Amino acid sequence: MQKNEGSAPSRHDLLVVGSANADLVVGVDRRPGPGETVLGSDLVVHPGGKGANQAVAAARLGARTALLARVGDDAHGRLLRASQQEAGVDTGGVLVGGAPTGVALITVDPSGDNSIVVSPGANARLTPGDIRAAAPLLASARVVSVQLEIPLDSVAETARSLAPGTRLVLNPSPPAPLPDEVLAACDPLVVNEHEARFILGEGAGPTPESWARGLTALGPRSVVITLGADGALVSDTRGGDPVRVPSPRVDAVDTTGAGDAFTAALAWRLGLGEDLTEAAGYAVRVGAAAVTKEGAQASFPTAEEVAAL
Ligand code: RIB
Repeated sequence: MQKNEGSAPSRHDLLVVGSANADLVVGVDRRPGPGETVLGSDLVVHPGGKGANQAVAAARLGARTALLARVGDDAHGRLLRASQQEAGVDTGGVLVGGAPTGVALITVDPSGDNSIVVSPGANARLTPGDIRAAAPLLASARVVSVQLEIPLDSVAETARSLAPGTRLVLNPSPPAPLPDEVLAACDPLVVNEHEARFILGEGAGPTPESWARGLTALGPRSVVITLGADGALVSDTRGGDPVRVPSPRVDAVDTTGAGDAFTAALAWRLGLGEDLTEAAGYAVRVGAAAVTKEGAQASFPTAEEVAAL
């Protein structure tokens, strides 16, 4: 078993520090334009949020996983805690109160693509003080994974609070300008095309390989670019050119949460000691499995389902 340098053996393979949302999902034939109204399907409420999704995805694969998040003292918060516990996630770090649970308003079109608006609610109250107070939890994990549905100050505090030897994985979603200290701590920075273009701005080149070069120049030790049905591209400053990792072909039903499942699987496998290409090879299979079913957490595969893909 790997150890954090100079500390006790890890209790958790993965700690996710991030958001928990109730996903309010409606199927639509097409999205409304400005000023337009369309009719959709019946409303379905799922547990979601990029942080909570990652924690469930990792636990379902067999990782010893913990979640540090904040939910409201309300029905949505209870739904989220129940889904974490059912998946086997350690919820000792899930704080309650301060605001209503975050909500995501999601439309899914017939091709499986989604559009999402998040009302952060309690996620916005996960403060740097909460992160400092969770120092034992941070010290308990081989890998810590964060996203940007919690305050950027709390993400930066997480990066500062890592125990020696603990690896930080950041998916900057939804994208925002990142401080240098956060970029420098990423190993890897995990982005999709939209997030890569946001971070690189007008300097974004024409190909994923050029985005990887541009992102690496900003300071992360490694970069992973997800390319949907085309898999992923990985780039590690510790050696070699960027490498393409293909995805199995599947029929997409709903892409919601597939990126979260990918990132969780990647983070877990890196913590087990796999290199970036190996870990991404596993993660693209997890992401592919996740798009074949509706919803976010409900679509995440077990290790047996990944092996069968
Ligand atoms: O990545 C998918 C997630 O984004 C949804 O579950 C929704 O809650 C938003 O956070």
